[in-house]
Amino acid sequence: MVETIEDRGRPRELASRAVRTVPQSLATLGGAGHDRLRVPIDELDRVLGGGLVRGSLVLVGGDPGIGKSTLILQAASLLARDQPVVYVSAEESAQQIKLRADRLGIEQENLLVLAETNLEEIIAAVESVEAGVVVIDSIQTVFLDEVTSAAGSVSQVRECTSRLMQWAKPHNVPVFVIGHVTKEGTIAGPRVLEHMVDAVLYLEGDRYHQYRILRAVKNRFGSTDEVGVFEMADTGLREVRNPSEAFLEERSEVASGSVVTVTIEGTRPILVEIQALATPTAFGLPRRSANGLETSRLQLLCAVLQKRVGLSLGAQDIYANVVGGLRVAEPAVDLGVAIAIASSFRDRPVERSTVVVGEIGLSGELRSVNQLDRRLNEAARLGFARVIVPATVGKPHLTASGIEIVRAASAAEAIEAAIP
Ligand SMILES: Nc1ncnc2c1ncn2[C@@H]1O[C@H](COP(=O)(O)OP(=O)(O)O)[C@@H](O)[C@H]1O
Ligand SMILES: [Mg+2]
Repeated sequence: MVETIEDRGRPRELASRAVRTVPQSLATLGGAGHDRLRVPIDELDRVLGGGLVRGSLVLVGGDPGIGKSTLILQAASLLARDQPVVYVSAEESAQQIKLRADRLGIEQENLLVLAETNLEEIIAAVESVEAGVVVIDSIQTVFLDEVTSAAGSVSQVRECTSRLMQWAKPHNVPVFVIGHVTKEGTIAGPRVLEHMVDAVLYLEGDRYHQYRILRAVKNRFGSTDEVGVFEMADTGLREVRNPSEAFLEERSEVASGSVVTVTIEGTRPILVEIQALATPTAFGLPRRSANGLETSRLQLLCAVLQKRVGLSLGAQDIYANVVGGLRVAEPAVDLGVAIAIASSFRDRPVERSTVVVGEIGLSGELRSVNQLDRRLNEAARLGFARVIVPATVGKPHLTASGIEIVRAASAAEAIEAAIP
């Protein structure tokens, strides 16, 4: 058991100070918009809600090695064109940051590196150079003297964040706080800070693939609907402005078990290829294995295909994969997964210019999905000729032009339409 509460002996007289804060009428309050600092990386700027709000604390979380330091160092160097930026590296030495900066080929004139772990020292140093933006990499490695527990512990992480908050607000300086999410140490990780900071961004992706998704899970100054898409390269994270094209780039020639579907990430439709492989089970228990999808969803879809569509998958191992390392959680890709499985099982390819969208219910019925128009327009834009959609979608809702719309009431009908 580790004690995490500290008695800091706060004097009680504070309660009886002379000047009291008084409630104010909303009508008399000034309604000036947030003072925002544009970040010259569009994908990051958009996820922030259109710039970095001065005096705000932005937590950037993610698995170790996913590219948090890389992305924020790139952003810091661009922001350093207009103001001094202090990059506090509590984790790596200044030389390591220098090596990374050289590799990324970034400007370094006004980018100041500070290798320090004591937060009071950090704040003093930041004040001495009048920094316009501060980066703390990472919150788990800085500490406050007055807190007795080790750096990275819940109380240190929390107190350090609250100290940064108290400093950033009156000084009107935005602070990026980087935090690791580790499998073992989630409790001391950024999760305990989510409610304290102004915005929480998570950088996610599969470290064996080049694509990274930056997602806002909380934002006091903007919507949490936006995502940014990046690609990891030698020279750092590159913005992917056309994610659909990127994800379909390596699409194989017509082969069975592959189909394209449209998923919505934030407000953006992204076309992704779903692949499935059905092979006879060698030993007794059939396997269901998914990559980029939830395994439970794959199991459910296999059960529906078995019972409602009549595919005998009971003695088949089923593997399903979202190409490119993207993770999709929305049910609108159900039909894509089901058709990919059926295509592999019957060993008949789906026509290359066909896209499918739809959620599958337990009775095998196709259910409509949100923002279908957006999805169809994206498919049309990329030159797809035919789309299979749930029959429940009313005609007036569809305005996409140049694409043939096939309506199917059930998974069985959709499969017949896709692989005749
Ligand atoms: N020399 C290199 N060349 C190309 N990519 C590299 C190199 N060194 C590191 N990387 C990439 O950068 C990633 C580490 O990014 P980093 O920003 O340090 O992650 P984080 O701060 O999230 O732990 C590695 O996973 C790798 O993909
Ligand atoms: Mg790092």
